[in-house]
Amino acid sequence: MQPLLLRNIKQVSMRRVAIVCISGLISFLFFAMPATAEYGDVVINNYAEKQGMRPVIFSHWFHRIRYACKVCHADLGFKFKAGGNDITMFKIIDGQYCGACHNGKIAWSVKNCNLCHSAKPGTPTQVHESTAQELAIPYDRGAR
Ligand code: HEC
Ligand code: HEC
Ligand code: HEC
Repeated sequence: MQPLLLRNIKQVSMRRVAIVCISGLISFLFFAMPATAEYGDVVINNYAEKQGMRPVIFSHWFHRIRYACKVCHADLGFKFKAGGNDITMFKIIDGQYCGACHNGKIAWSVKNCNLCHSAKPGTPTQVHESTAQELAIPYDRGAR
């Protein structure tokens, strides 16, 4: 028989191990999920592919659910036109456009290249009008 205190400590640390394992599994499943594109998403490819990066998929509904139109289309100055904004990584890192939020504080940072540059190569700038058409390529196969 072990002293009661020692047994308690062991139980607590086993529980910690279990929690760490489970959260690891959840984040693995999350990141292993394929990238998807839905109706209304905007593909932006003015520069990306010419510079050797896959086109960007901007998930419009995902963002519209979270923010009022005004946040982006007035305060951040996004024009209402697919491909109608002159967006570069320099500006994003400088805190403009996507970089106003994707700065590691409000949302994950620019280091996650593949989460934005997730479209199939060759996809032109457009508003996605059919979910049947596959725009995105799975995250895990996306590395360039
Ligand atoms: C938050 C979203 C986002 C992330 C993360 C991101 N980008 Fe971009 N990137 C964009 C957008 C939007 C454009 C403009 C696309 C266009 O017009 O073709 C762009 C354009 C580019 C371009 C072409 C324009 C330029 O500035 O030269 C390159 C190259 C590029 N990204 C590289 C990267 C690399 C490398 C990473 C990771 C370190 C990265 N991007 C991460 C959104 C992102
Ligand atoms: C998180 C930022 C963000 C929010 C919030 C947002 N938009 Fe947008 N919107 C964008 C971006 C980015 C584009 C694409 C611009 C580009 O390609 O350069 C866009 C494009 C558009 C376009 C042109 C493409 C299309 O689908 O026809 C319209 C119209 C539009 N937005 C309307 C709205 C309305 C209405 C709301 C609120 C219900 C809204 N947006 C909320 C960022 C946002
Ligand atoms: C007003 C703030 C804001 C702006 C501007 C913004 N984002 Fe986001 N974005 C967010 C937040 C918040 C999330 C959710 C982050 C999380 O889950 O940790 C997100 C998530 C995402 C996702 C993942 C969504 C999904 O479908 O799972 C992508 C891709 C993305 N943003 C791309 C972009 C691109 C590209 C731009 C610029 C054209 C942009 N974002 C501009 C706030 C913003």
